[in-house]
Amino acid sequence: MKQLFAVKSLDRLVSDTQDPTQQLKRTLGPVQLTALGIGAIIGAGIFSSVGSAAAGGPQHLGAGPAVAVSFVLTAIACGFAALCYAEFAAMVPVSGSAYTYAYATLGELIAWIIGWDLILEYAIGNVAVAVSWSGYFQELLRGLGVNWPEWLGTDFRTAAQGARELAATVAAGGDAGGLSAVVRQAADAFNSAPRLGGVPIILDLPAFLIVAFITWVLVRGIRESAWLNSAMVGLKLAIIAFFIIVGAFYVKPENWTPFAPNGFRGISSAAAIIFFAYIGFDAVSTAAEETRNPQRDMPIAMMASLVICTIIYILVAFVLTGLLKWEQLGTAEPLATAFSVLGMHWAAGIISLGAVFATTSVLVVFQLGQPRIFFSMARDGLLPPWAAKVHPKHRTPHVTTMLTGAAVATFATFLNINEVVELTNIGTLFAFILVAVGIVILRRTNPDRFRPFRTPFVPWVPLFAALMCGYLMLQLPWVTWVRFAVWLAIGLVIYFLYGVRHSRLRQQSNAGA
Ligand code: ALA
Repeated sequence: MKQLFAVKSLDRLVSDTQDPTQQLKRTLGPVQLTALGIGAIIGAGIFSSVGSAAAGGPQHLGAGPAVAVSFVLTAIACGFAALCYAEFAAMVPVSGSAYTYAYATLGELIAWIIGWDLILEYAIGNVAVAVSWSGYFQELLRGLGVNWPEWLGTDFRTAAQGARELAATVAAGGDAGGLSAVVRQAADAFNSAPRLGGVPIILDLPAFLIVAFITWVLVRGIRESAWLNSAMVGLKLAIIAFFIIVGAFYVKPENWTPFAPNGFRGISSAAAIIFFAYIGFDAVSTAAEETRNPQRDMPIAMMASLVICTIIYILVAFVLTGLLKWEQLGTAEPLATAFSVLGMHWAAGIISLGAVFATTSVLVVFQLGQPRIFFSMARDGLLPPWAAKVHPKHRTPHVTTMLTGAAVATFATFLNINEVVELTNIGTLFAFILVAVGIVILRRTNPDRFRPFRTPFVPWVPLFAALMCGYLMLQLPWVTWVRFAVWLAIGLVIYFLYGVRHSRLRQQSNAGA
């Protein structure tokens, strides 16, 4: 029992990274790291989820123009969490992120739970982003006059749902042409798909291919990946600036009233959805072992990327809700819709291009982060040793990179985006809470350790971070909670079947005894 909560000392955590056979290549500086943060943050959240956060589904329970306030609320929660992450990342510059911090403070069992939980943030989050990437990519192809087969661009459930809606409309004598383009495309996918033994074959091929391509780049090396990321970040920032500046000319201030049609309820449930848009500043910490000066640069990059993205999001929220009445924004690509409805199809095309760049860079950073967390867990013996192998030439954790790539690509080919986003949010919020609690614990158990960056006003900032993240978790539907509980239960079974016997910390303490 005592060993379940055994903590790994900070010195051990850091010295483990010095094994020359398991060393990653240190090439990143503060600018590349901040770009990595922005790369991870701006993506499917601002290009897709913001629409449903503002409009609030078919019942219009969203925040309305006050979605800008939701962005501020979530930014405050993330800002407090980032201050906690920064203290840890500077003090324990090890690639496992929250998993490693938990190992140093809350013990092995909680560390395992967090490592397992982070799969929801990184790998499952990326499934959502890959599906969103595919949607925008197909939109772009359509704009260029290329007809991508519908059955090769969606998932089975979405297609079947579309076919059902179409059939019901026709059976009721309604006008199929009156259905939304999204429903018609889904129905078309179902009806035109080739059959194998009577079962329609439906798969999201672009989602699979983009993940496969990024995995290949990531195996090649961290420098190549950072380069690809920086290029994407530059392009997406330019296109977001285009949205804000061009959009500002078409804003109708009367669209901003009523400002908060569903009051604080609407604002807080929107905040829980757009939390997805902020996930990523913490992913910077997974590149700790590839950073030249992590003590100084980790806190800078996390805070800088968060501040820059918050400003951008608030501006986008104001322009978006000023362009179009908030009830009309509930589409999968609201920023493009806002321009299309105004008849500016060329501008909508540019936005789709921006979304493809943006989601590409998110995919890069998360595909980069997940294997490094597995890598840390394998180094600690909680996962099999082959997972901690480093490529002899490229010095990247190639085994876990390829495994993550295969899993994310496969799930993205068959899964539906909506449920995946909520699951990602609940998992990430949980990780943030444990990191915040960890800061308070470590200040007590290890008060004298040198902290290159100190979270201000401890314990108040961490407590506030934990409370706000807990509050956002409570805004998520119960079915998400059930899925989350099932996920954690599976993780516990794996730990007791494997990790408990192979943990290096445990083996060493047994040998010592
Ligand atoms: N923040 C990332 C996105 O919005 C996950 O795509």
